[in-house]
Amino acid sequence: MAATNSDLPTIHQKLHGKVALITGGASGIGECTARLFSLHGAKVVIADIQDKLGCSIVGELGADACYVHCDVTNENDVSKAVNHAVSKFGKLDIMFNNAGIGGEAVHNITKTSKQDFDQVISVNLVGPFLGTKHAARVMIPARSGCIITTASLASVIAGAGSYPYTCAKHGIVGLTKNASSELGMYGIRVNCISPSTLATPLATKYVSLTGEEFEALVEHNANLKGVRLKVDDVAKAALYLA
Ligand SMILES: NC(=O)c1ccc[n+]([C@@H]2O[C@H](COP(=O)([O-])OP(=O)(O)OC[C@H]3O[C@@H](n4cnc5c(N)ncnc54)[C@H](O)[C@@H]3O)[C@@H](O)[C@H]2O)c1
Repeated sequence: MAATNSDLPTIHQKLHGKVALITGGASGIGECTARLFSLHGAKVVIADIQDKLGCSIVGELGADACYVHCDVTNENDVSKAVNHAVSKFGKLDIMFNNAGIGGEAVHNITKTSKQDFDQVISVNLVGPFLGTKHAARVMIPARSGCIITTASLASVIAGAGSYPYTCAKHGIVGLTKNASSELGMYGIRVNCISPSTLATPLATKYVSLTGEEFEALVEHNANLKGVRLKVDDVAKAALYLA
């Protein structure tokens, strides 16, 4: 049975009274973070394109959570999702730009299609740009806020991802640094998290393996010896930054 807000005493709820918007909150890292933030007392808005999944998670989280359909490549959707958080819960404290796709598993530049490049950049880089822009729009007048984006191992290591994925995730680091240097004066903290490989639908689809096969492969190639990175670890990093 899913944990609920009442499972943690209020004194230990690190996000009591905070409002968080999580893109890609219907699956993987985003879903786990939505559950953890909710457990810590946050009001959570899940923004995703998987409406059925998103709504079912919100159903488990209760009245302090809601779902909005939001394609992060569409500025109107992102703007509306931010406005929805503010109109429903009164403010936006935490923006988690987490939605992402793996794109085509092609590691050869001559075989990389422009179509895949455009699509991955659109979801994985333009999406976080729009999320940061519209979160800042409401956080600047409030003179407070926290913006987190899910980057990747591919943000810092060459050859770990396809060209579109690597370029998008490197771009997240630039976006984060630029936004933090501009928004710090308004009391807005901007950070990104760069996880290694995790067995989520994005990753297993990318390598065409089942979750179990993927876990075995990751264990074999792991940079963490004897420890497997889990979505929960990334959610805890987001909780720390939030
Ligand atoms: N899984 C890994 O190994 C890994 C490693 C490093 C970074 N990441 C990053 O973590 C983030 C979350 O991915 P995950 O691994 O939890 O995968 P996931 O597939 O479980 O979750 C991704 C979510 O993003 C949503 N999404 C996709 N396109 C969207 C769009 N246009 N608009 C709104 N939502 C959209 C999906 O519906 C899904 O719910 C991504 O940014 C990914 O690049 C993943």
